[in-house]
Amino acid sequence: CMGLGFGIAGSAYAEKPLVLGFSQVGAESEWRTANTASIKDAAKQAGVTLKFADAQQKQENQVKAIRSFIAQKVDVIAFSPVVESGWDTVLGEAKAAKIPVILTDRAVDAKDKSLYVTFIGSDFVEEGRRAGRWLLERAKSMPAGDINIVELQGTVGSAPAIDRKSGFAEIIAANPHLKIIRSQSGDFTRAKGKEVMEAFLKTDGKKINVLYAHNDDMAIGAIQAIEEAGLKPGKDILVISVDGVKGAFEAMMAGKLNVTVECSPLLGPQLMKVAKQVVAGETVPKRITTEESVFPAEVAAKEFPNRKY
Ligand code: AHR
Repeated sequence: CMGLGFGIAGSAYAEKPLVLGFSQVGAESEWRTANTASIKDAAKQAGVTLKFADAQQKQENQVKAIRSFIAQKVDVIAFSPVVESGWDTVLGEAKAAKIPVILTDRAVDAKDKSLYVTFIGSDFVEEGRRAGRWLLERAKSMPAGDINIVELQGTVGSAPAIDRKSGFAEIIAANPHLKIIRSQSGDFTRAKGKEVMEAFLKTDGKKINVLYAHNDDMAIGAIQAIEEAGLKPGKDILVISVDGVKGAFEAMMAGKLNVTVECSPLLGPQLMKVAKQVVAGETVPKRITTEESVFPAEVAAKEFPNRKY
């Protein structure tokens, strides 16, 4: 693939650009749009030829895209798996074709770790824990008695939904008054987040003290539902979410969202760097974890101008 140059500076043999096949989850959220832009921009900057496929949140489309990348003999395949399970066969095919696979953003649960070279992305369990820690702290200044939480989960079977749920549950277990009374998937979209929150409000209405949404988009949809129900998001119902997109900062500045746990979509530059290293035969770490923080509403106005997504 690369390197007819034999490392000789000024060689007559120009290096062929690296060809990267990337299968994206879809365009379900503000986060995902920023992630796609980051990958496309970084490819351009790095001189990488990018073959980009949008799977519209369907695993079967991702499998098809990966098979087509194998047939096209790309140098590297990268993808953000919509769900965790069911990848062994197609990743085995890539391995048999000697095409390295890089996971970005979301993990797979394959037992055979040799099916991919590395996984670049956030620690979703830790994100869930951070959301939980914020609530645990906040609960100390809330009225005595049970605190009823409703949870909007991400896409069923996806790594961020599974991990953000478990990390949050692990931390809030320290306070027996923190009770998750409902938990349902809103598929990481605004429309579904709103729809499911409407259903929660219909059955539990004023009982709800806290909403924990696995991403900002669902929180933003749910905020609309809360307002339409005549309640004040951020006050009557505390709202916690994950990502840290600009929309979340705007909601915080409007007093409607209490905190967002950062999850960075800006994985493009790292992906291009690692793809080049892998094709050059260098060893890369098996796990590359993104560094992130937490933004409570109190810092939103100050941080907003620094936000890149
Ligand atoms: O996998 C990352 C998650 O996917 C983001 O938190 C969410 O917004 C996106 O859809």
